[in-house]
This record gives sequence, structure tokens and C-alpha cells, in this order.
Amino acid sequence: MERELALEIVRVTEMAALNCARWMGRGRKMEADDAATTGMRRMFDTVQMDGTVVIGEGEMDEAPMLYIGERLGTGVPPKVDVAVDPLEGTNILAKGLWNAMSVVAVAPAGTLLHAPDMYMEKIAVGPRAAGRIDLDAPVEENLRAVADALDKDVTDVVAVILDRPRHAALIERVRQAGARIKLISDGDVAAALNTAFEDTGVDILFGIGGAPEGVLAAAALKCLGGELQGRLMPEDDEQRRRCAAMGITDTRRVLRMEDLVRGDDAIFAATGVTDGELLRGVRFIGKSRAKTHSIVMRSKTGTVRFIEAVHDLSRKPLPGLSAEFGAAASAGPAVHSIGSSGET
Ligand code: FBP
Repeated sequence: MERELALEIVRVTEMAALNCARWMGRGRKMEADDAATTGMRRMFDTVQMDGTVVIGEGEMDEAPMLYIGERLGTGVPPKVDVAVDPLEGTNILAKGLWNAMSVVAVAPAGTLLHAPDMYMEKIAVGPRAAGRIDLDAPVEENLRAVADALDKDVTDVVAVILDRPRHAALIERVRQAGARIKLISDGDVAAALNTAFEDTGVDILFGIGGAPEGVLAAAALKCLGGELQGRLMPEDDEQRRRCAAMGITDTRRVLRMEDLVRGDDAIFAATGVTDGELLRGVRFIGKSRAKTHSIVMRSKTGTVRFIEAVHDLSRKPLPGLSAEFGAAASAGPAVHSIGSSGET
């Protein structure tokens, strides 16, 4: 894949984030998700690629756009798989909490796992602890391995876990092992990504979340040299049939990085919608400008770019909020200032 594609992809996540950010705290997650999806879909039309959605907003009959199998881009090579989550953390945005993001991963056709929409048991760490974790090992052992890899005591390791009743036993075991815990309301893609950056203050992600989110997080960690292992958790025959249709017959098998994101040519981009430990959320500066903060990475080179962009909202129209919230401004990405941590 051409390196320019990375910058094209971040324009897509920026647009999705800009489009939905005005829904922050309004308690309307469906409208927020629609806004993100519409913005993302529109911007994909301008991207030079021949893409097919493998992880999207649902099956063709469930989602009006960004559905699985939808073709994206201008139709010229490279031929790529596209995984999208226009608004990762719909509840987060509806409540104005932390870590809502717009996310896209792109990789050569046939290399992203077509993860069905079901739960996945996950464990994820950043580059220093990669190769040291095992989804099948006891929690205590994984915590010790991460502590050792990070040259910390277990008592200083921070595990991030979705705050769900299904995790009660897991949380208790992590506490018994002596580690610290950060419970999150939603958003395990950001949580997995955060394990790769020590300033975020989290070291390991444990627990059950969405399988599509697992593939997106694995693409991010592939770019960063981290690791995610997952196990699909089909809950009924229909979900088992979906796994089989996607070539996964043994659903107990631990899916490793090569199963989730094959090869070494993935691109991952995310733009903050609300503030998070790694990315700042969208800021509206006066009526005609907005700022976004994004990360974009390529696994081929390991380049990690943080992009702060200032968008001129007078140039391109954004869809409005419902009439009850007043008229909307118009907007579109215009000015980019790029800070990079390396060369592609
Ligand atoms: P949405 O953006 O679709 O609301 O997903 C948010 C999320 O928290 C994911 O990050 C996570 O993988 C999944 O939902 C967990 O699912 P559940 O809320 O059913 O526990």
C-alpha cells in the first residue's frame, strides 16, 4: 500500500469525528452514530483505493452505509480490506465521557479477520510486554509477566477492564493478585491502544468486548509492536454459523496477531471525539473553526504520527443537529499541521 493512503485515511476519521462531536453529552447515541457514519462514508469517496468493508456498521440489510461488503474508495488499486468504527463509544459521546474515537484500519485485501459481530475475550499489551502474555494462562501469571516486562511490581501494574457484571470474577482476581485497576464504561479499542503508551497509565487490557473492536485494536497494536490475543464467544447457533462462514470452525482457538491482522502492511487511524488519555477530543473554536487530534500509523514502517488539524468550518458543509438543538454550522477539513515521530 502507498504511504499516502495513511494520510487519506486520517482525513476520513477526522471527518467522522467532526460530524458527530456536536452530539457530545446530548444523550442521543443513535443520532451521534449516524452523524459519524455519514461523515466517514462521504469522505471515503475521495480516497484512492479499491476497498471492501470487512468490519462495519452491520450486514447489508442492517446498515444503510458502511455495511460489510460495501465497496469504498475511488476503485483504483490498492485493493484493501477496510475495518471501520465511525464512533467507537456511542454511549461515551452521548454522556460526554472519555475516549470516544472515530477509527479506521486498512490492510491489503484478505488480511483482516472478518470478525463477526459478537463478543471476544481479549488480552492486550503494548510493545514492551508483547510476547509475554497468554490468554489461556491464569490472570495472575499474565500480571506477573507484564510486571516483569515493564520492570514494575505487580502492585504497580494497571489493568484496564470494561465495567460489566460479566467481569466481576476477573476484577476480583486482579484485585487479589494485587494489581491496580482502571474500570471503563466503554471503549476497549482506546483501552488496548493506550497499553502501548506509558503516559496513558494503563498496562494491560483484560476482558470481554466486541470482536470487531478486537480486530481494530489488533491493527493498532500491530503498528505499535504490541500484542492482542482474542477468542470469539459465539452465544448461539446463528453466531456459530457466522463464525463458520468466515472460516472459523474452532471457535475455542486463541486468535493471535497473525490471525487477526495478517502480514505487516496495516494502516490504523483514529481521531478523538471526546478527550482521552492519548487523544484530545474535537474542539470548536469560535463558529468557523474546529481542531481535531488524531493518530495514524503504518505497521510496515512503524511510523506513529500524531496529527493536530485546524478545520475551516466555513468551507464544507457538516450535517446539522436536530432542529431542537438549533442550526448547525458547516465544516470540513482544511488545514493540517503534522507532527511525526519518524519517517515513512
Ligand atoms: P459502541 O461504540 O458500539 O457503543 O461500543 C462500545 C463498546 O464499549 C466497545 O468498545 C466494546 O468492545 C463493546 O462496546 C462492549 O460491549 P458491551 O457494551 O455489550 O459490553
